[in-house]
Amino acid sequence: MFEHSVAHRMSLLHTESAFGIMAHANALEAQGKRIIHMEIGQPDFKTPRNIIEAAYRAMNSGYTGYTPTPGLPVLRNAIADYARRWKQIDTSPEEIVVVPGGKPVMFYTMLMLIEPGDEVIYPNPSFPIYESCIKFAGGVPVPLPLTAENGFRLDVNRLRALITPKTKLVLINSPSNPTGGVFTPEDIQSLADALRPHPDIFILSDEIYDRLVFGKKPPSIASLPGMKDRTIILDGFSKTYSMTGWRLGYGILHPDLAKHMEMLMVNSNSCAAAFTQMAAVEALTGPQNSVETMKRAFRERRDYLVAALNGIPGITCCMPQGAFYAFPDISSFGLDCKTFCDRLLEEAGVAAAWGTSFGAYGEGYLRLSYATSLENIREAVRRIGDFTARL
Ligand SMILES: Cc1ncc(COP(=O)(O)O)c(C=O)c1O
Repeated sequence: MFEHSVAHRMSLLHTESAFGIMAHANALEAQGKRIIHMEIGQPDFKTPRNIIEAAYRAMNSGYTGYTPTPGLPVLRNAIADYARRWKQIDTSPEEIVVVPGGKPVMFYTMLMLIEPGDEVIYPNPSFPIYESCIKFAGGVPVPLPLTAENGFRLDVNRLRALITPKTKLVLINSPSNPTGGVFTPEDIQSLADALRPHPDIFILSDEIYDRLVFGKKPPSIASLPGMKDRTIILDGFSKTYSMTGWRLGYGILHPDLAKHMEMLMVNSNSCAAAFTQMAAVEALTGPQNSVETMKRAFRERRDYLVAALNGIPGITCCMPQGAFYAFPDISSFGLDCKTFCDRLLEEAGVAAAWGTSFGAYGEGYLRLSYATSLENIREAVRRIGDFTARL
């Protein structure tokens, strides 16, 4: 119904398959099957207590109304301090727009910058909403393939070859969803070198997982000379502080662009929730040990999972350096990755996301989120081994 009434642009939007897989897995669970959930990208840790208490305090002291559209000054200040500390970027509150989640920064950036026909270079496989937002804004998505050969890092030479006079934006994401790949400082440096001769190209740097790096954290591209004014940083509270349902994120961008993002916010959300913003101040300025505890747990699970997957005949998995995803190659079984995933769920009760739900270059892979207990991971690996032995 209404197919002819709905605007054409709606057909340009795509969804995130992980939510559909979760619905399918939940339906199987309702039938009494025991499912191991490794499909969804959210930490399995509770939001730290100090953040929850700060939200209560804020509600009790009246933070229940509208706030200034770009966010409460106390939060924008805290984000600026945090960015100086963790990203080595010299920034100020006028460069910060607080929004409900990391996703709106993507959406608003495309709406703000992209004219029909503009090209946007984006990693593939990657978060599916990138491609969806690019198309919705009328842009042309230009995939930059990521490959296992270099640990799914950025291939700057390949990127250079994709730049045309129509390139408006380059999108990067490190650590990456779905691969767990992390750029090296040299990657970031050569990306900056490649973009310097093209001053009109903007960069959207999705840094939502940047506290979840297992080795040395590479710098933000915005901290390199000449890069800050053209970079829009996307970050937020969902992953670092286990706050996916709180819906809070932010953009760090040139004050002139921030005004446009604020305009998109005033036209869509008015502001992010006031008490959530106060809880976020506590997240940034309070103790950080919960982040370190979570990272240690992810690292332990990663080490187990990747070694165990590589022990299954036919599967190879490179070592993710960040986030909480493994991206094993299952192409040797001769099934397309969606069929593999559907059967893995139906026949073995392991819910995973198929590689092509992150773009065409994800064929042959599946994404396993290890944001679940080691016990569940052990059982999942056992089931995957049994399943693949039957193929
Ligand atoms: C790469 C990446 N960017 C952004 C987001 C969006 O985060 P949020 O839930 O804060 O909107 C996600 C969520 O999964 C993600 O994986």
